[in-house]
Amino acid sequence: MIPTTTRVVTLLERPQRGGDPTPDLFAIEERPIPAVGPDQLLVHNIAMSVDPSMRGRLDVGEKHYTTNFQIGEPLDGSAIGEVLASDSSEIAVGSVVRHRAGWREHAVVDASSVSVVDADAAAVGAWLGVLGQTGFTAWVGLRRIGELHDGDTVFVSAAAGAVGSAAGRFAKLLGAARVVGSAGGSDKVARLVNDLGYDDALDYRAESPRDALPRLAPDGVDVYFDNVGGPHLVAALHNLRIGGRVALCGMISQYSADGRGQDINHLIEAVLRRVTLRGFIVRDHEDMRPEFEKTVAGWLRSGEVEALQTVTDGIEHAVDAFLGMLKGGNVGKALVRLDTSWTV
Ligand SMILES: NC(=O)c1ccc[n+]([C@@H]2O[C@H](COP(=O)([O-])OP(=O)(O)OC[C@H]3O[C@@H](n4cnc5c(N)ncnc54)[C@H](OP(=O)(O)O)[C@@H]3O)[C@@H](O)[C@H]2O)c1
Repeated sequence: MIPTTTRVVTLLERPQRGGDPTPDLFAIEERPIPAVGPDQLLVHNIAMSVDPSMRGRLDVGEKHYTTNFQIGEPLDGSAIGEVLASDSSEIAVGSVVRHRAGWREHAVVDASSVSVVDADAAAVGAWLGVLGQTGFTAWVGLRRIGELHDGDTVFVSAAAGAVGSAAGRFAKLLGAARVVGSAGGSDKVARLVNDLGYDDALDYRAESPRDALPRLAPDGVDVYFDNVGGPHLVAALHNLRIGGRVALCGMISQYSADGRGQDINHLIEAVLRRVTLRGFIVRDHEDMRPEFEKTVAGWLRSGEVEALQTVTDGIEHAVDAFLGMLKGGNVGKALVRLDTSWTV
């Protein structure tokens, strides 16, 4: 039976400038499902992603990765779902597709905007995480932006998160000699070393990264994979080896900050150490996706990589999952399961 309405999460208000978003800024509404037009699909969403970049998209004015969310409209983001109705000659009913219309239980999307995923090759959650955009971000950041070489020492911030946990694991498998991570809290730090393959780790809430890094990487850092900016970036700048590389992936420590800090003054360290700092947006590097998917699907099959995720059930808890992730409530990819009959 094809439904005619669906639950969506909408934005009621934007956060105060510089303030943290709160649950009252969002609402869950029942909305009509649009008719399926030419070359469109009706998708029943199984799972959706909550991402740090969505924090920037709540603001007015400053554009982060893509268009900002609109007041009164549903939010959007990566999701995976099963096709319930299709007007496409290419994508059949029953296919599992990845698309951009998350934050709702059903979506009508253009067939040309989705990718069909092989739900037998890996669980659907993996296609949003380690085998999806976050794993791909780690891959691009290490291989192309960080120019990882055999024997390198790599430092990763937000090391237990979606991108960070993938970056730590991939770095080792791609030949790094030593991989050091940073995360918030002693439990996460223990997991980095005991479960996630890091050689050593620091708890940035207990010790400043600038104090800890010289101890954990005494011979210096070749590649810093920056997910957080701020004091972590400063610490890395002071501990990079000559010719070191910084993959500027994201700066979550500044997404809610009222104004930016003064840390840019430390850039003289980049001069002295002949460092390359390179920012990137993963969608500019699609040419690398086939080698990424082939390699990481193999690592998943062999057990060298696991699809680490923190799953929250139900659209009514999607905002909690998002706000919790921004404060470090996740290990691995933060996902919301919208259809609990599926294993993610
Ligand atoms: N460039 C691109 O194309 C691209 C693509 C995807 C993601 N990104 C960026 O990659 C980074 C990681 O994204 P993700 O999806 O993997 O998220 P994630 O790491 O799974 O979740 C965010 C993590 O950030 C940490 N965090 C929050 N506030 C912090 C602070 N003030 N200082 C240090 N750590 C803090 C929290 O872990 P703790 O408990 O350790 O604090 C939290 O778990 C983000 O900056 C994101 O914007 C960039």
